[in-house]
Amino acid sequence: MNILGINAYHGNSAAAIVCDGKLVAAVEEERFNRVKYAAGFPALAIQYCLKTAGLTLKDIDHVAVPRNPYARLATKFFYAARMPSFARERAKVLVKFTGVREALAAVFDSDPAKLVATFHRVEHHKAHLASAFFVSPFERAALLSADGLGDFASTMWGTAAGNRMKIADAIAFPHSLGIYYSAVTQYLGFPKFGDEYKVMGLAAYGEPEYLPAFRDIVKFDPHANGNGFRLGLDYFIHHRTGPEMTWADAGKTPVQGKLYSDEMSKRFGPARTPAEPIEQRHYNLASSLQARLEEVYLGMLKKLAARTGLKAVCLAGGVAFNCVANGKIFDTTPFEQVFVQPAAGDAGLAIGAAYHVWHQKLGKPRSFVMEHSYWGPEFSREETHRAIDANDIRRHGFTVEECDEDAISRRAAAIIAEGKILGWFQGRAEWGPRALGNRSIVADPRRPDMKEILNRRIKRREIFRPFAPSILAESTGEWFEKSHPSPFMTFAYSVRPEKRNQIPAPTHVDGTGRLQTVTCEANPRYWRLIKAFEQATGVPIVLNTSFNDNEPIVCRPEEALDCFLRTQMDALVLGDFLISKQ
Ligand SMILES: [Fe+2]
Repeated sequence: MNILGINAYHGNSAAAIVCDGKLVAAVEEERFNRVKYAAGFPALAIQYCLKTAGLTLKDIDHVAVPRNPYARLATKFFYAARMPSFARERAKVLVKFTGVREALAAVFDSDPAKLVATFHRVEHHKAHLASAFFVSPFERAALLSADGLGDFASTMWGTAAGNRMKIADAIAFPHSLGIYYSAVTQYLGFPKFGDEYKVMGLAAYGEPEYLPAFRDIVKFDPHANGNGFRLGLDYFIHHRTGPEMTWADAGKTPVQGKLYSDEMSKRFGPARTPAEPIEQRHYNLASSLQARLEEVYLGMLKKLAARTGLKAVCLAGGVAFNCVANGKIFDTTPFEQVFVQPAAGDAGLAIGAAYHVWHQKLGKPRSFVMEHSYWGPEFSREETHRAIDANDIRRHGFTVEECDEDAISRRAAAIIAEGKILGWFQGRAEWGPRALGNRSIVADPRRPDMKEILNRRIKRREIFRPFAPSILAESTGEWFEKSHPSPFMTFAYSVRPEKRNQIPAPTHVDGTGRLQTVTCEANPRYWRLIKAFEQATGVPIVLNTSFNDNEPIVCRPEEALDCFLRTQMDALVLGDFLISKQ
């Protein structure tokens, strides 16, 4: 039985295909159309999923869409009556979603009337929870989803056992941890969709001087089943204007409307514009923002653990990408095991909706655990070779050598150990926003100047944003103060103080690293590269950043070659081919 999951008409549009309960392929539309956070209908992602599974449209039994316009109708009517613009926006969304069948048929030039698949609507946060639990290794777990907003809710929690999830409660618009974080992110002068990461990096440079005041911006709410929070709405405008999201680039790029009110400036001083320098006040505000998020998020998790008595928890939604907060779960809550799948944000809804149908609606037993993130496109030796030839890479002064398994990791490790920057492109592309060793740029973590070199030559990111370490999983406890697996870079742990000066490049200013733990089972070739680096240097860690340059992560060999030539990387490994300077 084949289930196609589609996240459409929403940021991070994506598709996933689940065949007899096994995930076969999953990918974000941005990897194909090259528009970051692309919204719209994921036509190219759907085509890729079906092709990879060897299916045509008529083989699809179920189509799962993670949106239920009928959820929370009473709250929606309440706000629609007060805000005509909001009502118009809702009506547009409804029209789009009723057209999913037609849009899907159009991708394959088919007649929508001839589609045999059954269409299902799965509420946004139920799809988030399903995306985490049903692919987790846990038989039983507590669940928490927290994000900006989806189907008019921002937060949902519950429990799950076997193939059933049980929802305990949810928090509806306008109260939202995601909106809280985005609003302060905007106020600090980072207006773009997805900029919250930058502010999380900024937070480590400040002190939470404003934490007492931030407790007025997000308050605990004893009424929401004892586990909720409320926003201090004076600081926000979204409850008056509607959760405004517009779309640029022909409807492909999400643009978040202004979320914070003048009250923010009255209390904390003028809002920063993107061009203004970052002052200590801004660092302290970012630190206070993060500190209050942690108090509320970890507080909710503590209560969830106390109520359920469970030791494992599955997290999803944009807030679950807060790796700094996730890293603190082990010390501040009774949870001992935490699972966050790599596409914890809205792309992940595609697999969540599909698995919700498979287990919750069809009652099928569990048979799948997501042990790696490599569910995207891959390219054959011939395709890679053709791309290299077409690019005429030799004319740019590079040599191309085809290497065997042992030579490729050994030589790549030697290049990194010399302080050079290496593009590393292998196998299937990662699912989710992190490069995890198949579309990565890797470098020497031991060099204090490596962060600055990478930024100057390739990434051009703000200097306060950290780079991440990839570590051999078996060495985690030796280098970090926690050793709970972090295969998808969704946790930040403290680097052991005595090790910090050995890996200065991926150690953040607060002594933490947003690590990827790499096992030989999940990614043998990447594991061998790090192992070879350890043999050469004694350090079982490489610095890993995504293979891109202000664009979505590269998907095809052609894009990797373009990025390689455009930036100033020193060498590139494309599958078995090593491209280096003569
Ligand atoms: Fe979401």
